[in-house]
This record gives sequence, C-alpha cells and structure tokens, in this order.
Amino acid sequence: MQLISAGALTQLTQVSKGTGCRVAVVGCGYWGSKHARVMHAADGVEEVVLVDSRRDRLLNLGRSYKTAPWYTDLRSALAHVDAVVVATPPSTHVAVAMQAIEAGKHVLVEKPLAPTSAGARRLDRAAAAAGVVLMVGHTFEYNPAVRKLRQIIQSEELGEVYYIDCARLNLGLYQNDVNVILDLAPHDISIINHVLGRKPVAAQAWASRHAHRRFEDVAYLRLFYDDFFDDRGLSANIHVSWLDPCKVRRVTAVGSQKMAVYDDLAVDERIRVLDKGVCLPPDGDNMTQPPLSYRYGDIVVPFISPDEPLAVQNQHFIECIATGSRPLTDGANGLAVVEALEAAELSRRLGRPVLLAELSADSRFTQPFSLGSRYVSASRASGGTGAANGAASAVRTSPEMS
Ligand SMILES: NC(=O)c1ccc[n+]([C@@H]2O[C@H](COP(=O)([O-])OP(=O)(O)OC[C@H]3O[C@@H](n4cnc5c(N)ncnc54)[C@H](O)[C@@H]3O)[C@@H](O)[C@H]2O)c1
Repeated sequence: MQLISAGALTQLTQVSKGTGCRVAVVGCGYWGSKHARVMHAADGVEEVVLVDSRRDRLLNLGRSYKTAPWYTDLRSALAHVDAVVVATPPSTHVAVAMQAIEAGKHVLVEKPLAPTSAGARRLDRAAAAAGVVLMVGHTFEYNPAVRKLRQIIQSEELGEVYYIDCARLNLGLYQNDVNVILDLAPHDISIINHVLGRKPVAAQAWASRHAHRRFEDVAYLRLFYDDFFDDRGLSANIHVSWLDPCKVRRVTAVGSQKMAVYDDLAVDERIRVLDKGVCLPPDGDNMTQPPLSYRYGDIVVPFISPDEPLAVQNQHFIECIATGSRPLTDGANGLAVVEALEAAELSRRLGRPVLLAELSADSRFTQPFSLGSRYVSASRASGGTGAANGAASAVRTSPEMS
C-alpha cells in the first residue's frame, strides 16, 4: 500500500465524505474527449475540467459540456482539481504527469505510461513519494472480453499455452510523435501480460517505414518468456500496422488442448473457444511415423458483458482515489509494458533479440556491439543471461519532453 501524503489525504477525505472528485482531462483530442464523456458519467466525480493547449479543441468539446471550466494550460487548472487524466501525445506524458504529481494530484496517464522505461520509473517513484495514485490507461485490461480470455487461460482450459498471436491493423491513425510500435503495441503487450499473468524476458522486432517520413508504420514484434532459447517455449507475436486495408483487432491463443480467438470487432462472438488441436501419434518422437492427426470439436461462445472498458477503467481510478487502494494498472504495470516496448524498439535498431534485463540501470551497454547468432551463442555460453550490446544511448526510443 502506498503512503498517503498530507495533501493527498485531505483530498481522499473530501472524496470519501461525498464531496466528489474534481478531475482535469488534459488533452481534449480524439481520446481525451472520450475521457471527458466517461468522467462526466462516473460516480464520485463532482466536476470535469477541460485542459488543452489548443483553444479550438476546448471550444469544440466545450459545446458538449457547457458548464465545464476549461484552461489552456495545466498549471492554471491544478488549484481547482484533485486528479488529472493525461491524454496528451506520448512524448508529453512524463512532463505533464510529473507536473500533476508534484502538485499532489492523483494521475491517470494514457498508454504508454512513458516513451522510455526511465520515464516510467520516474513517474512511479514520484507518485509513491507524493503518496498519490498513479494509474496507466491500459484500457484493454478493463475490457470484459480480455478478462474472460484471462479466465480461460488461467483456468488452463486451453491446456498449455503454446503461443499468442495479436494483430492490430488499420489504415491509420498515423501519429506525429511516436512510431506504430509505441502507438499500438502497448495495447497488445498489456493484454498479453494480463492474460498470461507473466512478463516477457526478451523481445525482438522488425519494422518498416513506408508512408510516414519519420516513423515506422508497420511492425512485427516477438516476445519471449522464461524459456527464451527454447524454440518450443511460450512466445507471443504481435503485428501492428497503420498501413493496412483491413481493420483487424484480433488476439489468438493456441494451447495444447484448445484454442481461443478474441475478435474485438465482432458484434456477438467476441470470444470463441475452439476445441481444435493436433494429436501426436502414439510414438510421437519417431519422425518416420505418419504426421499428426487433427481434432475438430465444438466451438463455444462465452457471454461477454457489454460494459464500456473506458468507463470501467475510469470508475476504478475514482474508487482507488477514494479508498487509497492501488490500481490494477498501477505504475509497475505501466513500467512492465514500457520495458517490453523499449526492448522491442532496441531490437529493431540493433537487429537482434534484446533481453529486458539489458535495460536495467546496471546493464552492460558499454560492451562491444555484436549481432544475431554470435549474441545467442555468447548468451548460451554465459548461462543464458546474454551480453548486452550496443551503446547506452541506443536504449532511448523517442524524444521525451521532461
Ligand atoms: N487507451 C486507448 O485505447 C487509447 C486510444 C487512443 C489514444 N490513446 C492515447 O491517448 C493519448 C492522446 O491520443 P489522441 O489520439 O487523443 O491524440 P490527439 O492528438 O487527438 O489529442 C491530443 C491533444 O493533446 C493536446 N496537447 C498536447 N500537448 C499538450 C499539453 N502539454 N497540454 C495540454 N494539451 C496538450 C493537443 O492539443 C491535442 O488536442 C495518447 O497517449 C494515446 O496513446 C489511448
């Protein structure tokens, strides 16, 4: 449990006495406007304050919320609120959230928590020191379909999970400050971390730049778990793209007993559990035997509650403020996703898998650069922890205004 500072305690007391929480939504663009709608409807919210450096955005959103106070900078709004939702572009998350935390405000930061793990750690430490709630907007972890998928996987209904495959494709929306990995993969990594209840130990990524001048718009990521060097070990594959003719939002989990497909775009059958599989012949190790047989069984469609994930998430934030409890998607949860993103981003640059352990403060990034199989065999020889290669500066992903 976090320590609660005197200022934050006063706010908690006010909120628990029923005076309600006053929430600033900073960034009133595409996603911030949804936060404004959801916060207006949340229990325990007394007032929603709109903040955006663009006056036209404020005027536009202000038409829907005529009584909502608005400000063109967070500093002017801070005296009037208890909590802040940061829905500005990712490169600004650390600076904006830090400003709120230093003023003793509870903070919900949109994904990714920060563009770098150093930024995410700073926010986590600062929130703990200030005794305020820090939550990250990993909306899919509040999505009833993702929670159902987690339940299915954790109950071992699928058997041993072989791999998870995610596809998040569409034409756009192109971003101005981060590449497609930092924009879209946070969703998939948070979903995978949540349903598996595990964090990856290494990441590998390939990405290419087509229509965007600066940022990669198509990327493939692979996450490895504790059996990194075992090609039969658990892995997760993620395909993200801003440059695809078809909108796809799909997660497939393949297990030794069954398979599950979560299609976020499906109207009725968002999760299907398929009793499909492959059976080894009795003498499975004998490669001269005829190959595998295939099992085709029932397809089950579980009930998924229609709750809006963003509304569930934001209500949880307000409840955590009122009760002083730690959010499901706290700073550590946000950091775990950022570390996987950072390892993927570094892998893309170095052209080799990157262990998350390499990103820690005491990593050996000053060691000589080497690639591919040399790296793997050196890692194997040294017991699998891997020698970190490349320059320390290469860890940084995109600019972070802080
Ligand atoms: N959880 C989700 O499902 C989800 C979905 C979409 C976007 N997002 C996240 O929401 C955030 C915003 O994305 P978006 O698509 O709404 O972007 P957007 O560009 O539509 O809106 C961002 C807004 O922030 C404002 N802004 C920028 N810097 C500011 C500052 N320092 N102070 C005040 N206002 C500032 C801009 O003027 C703009 O209006 C991003 O972090 C993104 O990753 C999350």
